[in-house]
Amino acid sequence: MIKIIYGKCAHCASVNAANVITDLLKSKPDAVLGLATGSSPIGMYKELIARCEKGEISFKNVKSVNLDEYVGLAADHDQSYAYFMSHNLFNHVDIDKANTNLPNGLAADPAAECRRYDGVVASMGGVDVQVLGIGNNGHIGFNEPATYFSKGTGLVDLTDSTIDANARFFEKREDVPTQALSMGVGQIMNADKILLIALGKGKAEILEKSLFGDVTPEVPASILQFFKGEVVVCADEEALSVILEKHPEAVTK
Ligand code: F6R
Repeated sequence: MIKIIYGKCAHCASVNAANVITDLLKSKPDAVLGLATGSSPIGMYKELIARCEKGEISFKNVKSVNLDEYVGLAADHDQSYAYFMSHNLFNHVDIDKANTNLPNGLAADPAAECRRYDGVVASMGGVDVQVLGIGNNGHIGFNEPATYFSKGTGLVDLTDSTIDANARFFEKREDVPTQALSMGVGQIMNADKILLIALGKGKAEILEKSLFGDVTPEVPASILQFFKGEVVVCADEEALSVILEKHPEAVTK
């Protein structure tokens, strides 16, 4: 079941997303969180940090697994996803860093690293909520449009459109890594709940296509239509603009 929650602005959508995580942490303080990077979850992380500072929630017993990491970037590189997570969440909440996990982008043997990470994800005994952003091409994690849905963690070649989209975070386009290690679509689909965050006009077409179009690996996020549990979509008005036009009844205001 897909629940689309309307947020007037990006901040409103981020607060809605933070509410989903807050509810989980209040009912299950030792929850396992599947986390994402990129611009979409930043506002939610800020809100969660504020709630943690006020003592409303705690990450003390939380474990986390992140979706992905760039190949070739060390954890202390300022564009690595390990660095992103430390600076946008982990350093500001009471999480035990030993309980946080990301693929190692510097692993000498990426295939072995993928198998290790599959083991890490499996050892969690299930992800309670998996946070996702959505790529302009419909990717989730770094699972790019393909002819099949990936199962486990894999080494992926980033598409030109993803490299273009991510170039905004780097000095030069040539600096953007061309490969990543990413949890597979199958692993994402194993979570108990999905929290998809989409912000801005650029996501409006792909969000509608993913949630209402054909289910196809050419639009990886479309598989969420077959998710066994609840998919909560927290999006702002811009990202919802096409859905509001075509399927207004599907949006909870
Ligand atoms: C990040 C990730 C990606 C992003 C997606 C959207 O860990 O796996 O799928 O969620 O590329 O990125 P933003 O949020 O920057 O638009």
